[in-house]
Amino acid sequence: MRPCISALAAVFCGWTLVFGIPAHAVTPPLQTQNTTLRQLVLKRPGFYIGSAVDYQALVSNPSYKAILQQQFNQLTPENAMKWGAIHQSPDTYNFTQADNLVEFAIQNKMRVRGHTLVWYKNIPDWVVKGNYNRDQLMAILKNHIQTVVSHFKGKVAEWDVVNEAIEPNGNGLRDCLWTQVIGPEYIALAFQWAHEADPDALLFYNDYNTEDLGPKSVTQYNLLKNLLLAHIPVNGVGLQMHQKTKIPYSISIMSGNMRRLSDLNLRIAVTEMDVSITEPVGEDYSTKLQKQASNYGNALSACLGNKACTSFTVWGFSDAYTWQPENQPAIYSASMQPKPAYQKLYDILYNYIDN
Ligand code: XIL
Repeated sequence: MRPCISALAAVFCGWTLVFGIPAHAVTPPLQTQNTTLRQLVLKRPGFYIGSAVDYQALVSNPSYKAILQQQFNQLTPENAMKWGAIHQSPDTYNFTQADNLVEFAIQNKMRVRGHTLVWYKNIPDWVVKGNYNRDQLMAILKNHIQTVVSHFKGKVAEWDVVNEAIEPNGNGLRDCLWTQVIGPEYIALAFQWAHEADPDALLFYNDYNTEDLGPKSVTQYNLLKNLLLAHIPVNGVGLQMHQKTKIPYSISIMSGNMRRLSDLNLRIAVTEMDVSITEPVGEDYSTKLQKQASNYGNALSACLGNKACTSFTVWGFSDAYTWQPENQPAIYSASMQPKPAYQKLYDILYNYIDN
């Protein structure tokens, strides 16, 4: 029997269970009617279901806050820990929003993924336009990483240390400030500096379009393999999984990619899953929603199928608070109603048996 997830469904499920007794008499108490995603993942010890959190939404929208508390046991600040948010001028760090999010997580028994320490985007002008030489930029990067990681020591379980360092076509490292001034070794240095600041934090490399077996994913695999061969403290790989309904990914392809990564002894996290509703234009909306659900479900199934995959995070849970609102990529609608994608994740977790 399908789980009863809404109050209405609970009434009918109750009716079928004890035929002859008025349904209202067997409706479970409110707090036990709805099992939530965060309750279901408890079946898999050490596994977390997360969402990126939009700070403004959290402080202004009570239903956003309630769903976050009920459904997720991990959060990633969507923007509040990025360089531009925290470190606007050379000697000024502002941790207010990030601290508030971490405090919210502690209050609600949620784990925190820190995002992100080194990225080619969201770098303030004082860094980009400072004309620093190699030694100076290394000192700036080291100071940034170590100040931020030390600040959250013991509170942030894992960090996306380096984000999106590979060229979109998979052809080597991205040409950016860090490679231009420091060189490709900025990646290894970043992991070493982060590790020095918090030896207990798990350190991840995070990127997009690297969940399949294509060229970018191969470059990512080789990058990680070489870092590990050089004894760089990398603990895991974050597969962002910003997907589109027009491109279905099979469980077997994602599993194959995850297997080669876990064979390197790396942890795996699905870190930024969303599925943009895209062409074909004529397709009816319910078909698009089913395709969206299927992409989410395949990613979760691949993740659950690999013991090294330790968390599954959506990049915003509502179409009202997403970086791509025009594509309705989330698991809840803009009016905060669960979409088929939510139901798919629910069903997979509901039927999951840990072994
Ligand atoms: C995005 C946020 O969602 C937006 O609000 C912001 O304007 C830009 O960054 N990959 C990442 C995330 O690693 O940090 C990005 O987040 C989305 C793509």
